[in-house]
Amino acid sequence: MNGIKIRGMGRCVPERVVTNADLAERVDTSDEWITSRTGILRRHHCTAETHSSLCAGAARAALERAGVLPEEIGACVVATVTADNLVPSAACTLQRELGLPGDIPCFDLSAACTGFLFALHTVECLLNASPRKFALVVGAETLSRVTNWDDRGTCILFGDGAGAAVVECREGWPSISSIMGCHGSGELLRLPGPGAGEPGLISMEGTRVFKFAVEAVPWCVDQVLKKTGRTVEDVDFFVFHQANARIIDLAVRKYRIPPEKYYKNIAEYGNTSAASIPLVLSELREQGKIGPGSRILAVGFGGGLTWGGCLIEFA
Ligand code: ACO
Repeated sequence: MNGIKIRGMGRCVPERVVTNADLAERVDTSDEWITSRTGILRRHHCTAETHSSLCAGAARAALERAGVLPEEIGACVVATVTADNLVPSAACTLQRELGLPGDIPCFDLSAACTGFLFALHTVECLLNASPRKFALVVGAETLSRVTNWDDRGTCILFGDGAGAAVVECREGWPSISSIMGCHGSGELLRLPGPGAGEPGLISMEGTRVFKFAVEAVPWCVDQVLKKTGRTVEDVDFFVFHQANARIIDLAVRKYRIPPEKYYKNIAEYGNTSAASIPLVLSELREQGKIGPGSRILAVGFGGGLTWGGCLIEFA
């Protein structure tokens, strides 16, 4: 199988910033509690923006940076659990908005916070079966629309945003070597759909999900290293899903990852689920911390439960 590399990244976040102090006026919480338990200082919430406008903003920026035209795209996958509509999907809306070809697969993928990595794996498979060379992969969420403001344990966590990647598939490039898993533990983390007969708001047993996450992250790191025959030292940058700074700190300590080889932006965005990993990649690329030649090990985990990892390179 031919592998994929990222050719360009883009991101789009809502203008409105909601600080911990803003939340403390609305629910029984404090800046001290949120900061010390999660590492979150702020998050961005939509006002005029929509899920579709975030997707389009991130995707346009990614196409421009990649130097790829909409008509060259061979597949479009949007990882999300909060699209404006179930039908048309966010990906179909994007197809029309950007003028992507009409004869390519465009669909949404639901794997919560692991969604962007599941989507990368999916487009690697799709491009191997396509005459076209490029695909658009977006991770986007408007979690502020499904937040339960009566639950102080979850409402302080989530933010809105979108990150997008234009990926290229070429003969001879190595596969991203995805590893993935899922365990249908619906009671730990739920976002009910229209058929559930209850309000569509997020609920989570945070402490149990935390325990799952601190086991899932090293499992994913180890599996990717094993599959690729690489060591921790071979990796130039580690990108972890931004759910809680403490989860990232535990992984960093376990693998003795030096500060210049990992990144946290959870303080600015909170947990943006499927958008979290592409937001990190986009910022790192813009800052010049990663680029062509960098070997990036990415790990995601979240609702489903789902988890996954892969080795990403830039073209
Ligand atoms: N402000 C003040 N106190 C609070 C708040 C708050 N916002 N929320 C909870 N508390 C209180 C609780 O009531 C509890 O009080 P008690 O001891 O008197 O009963 C105490 O703080 C501890 O509560 P816990 O829920 O045990 O707090 P914990 O340290 O576990 O932190 C958190 C909660 C931040 C949610 C953490 O469990 C976590 O990050 N979990 C993992 C989240 C995750 O990784 N999710 C996966 C991705 S999300 C997705 O897929 C969409």
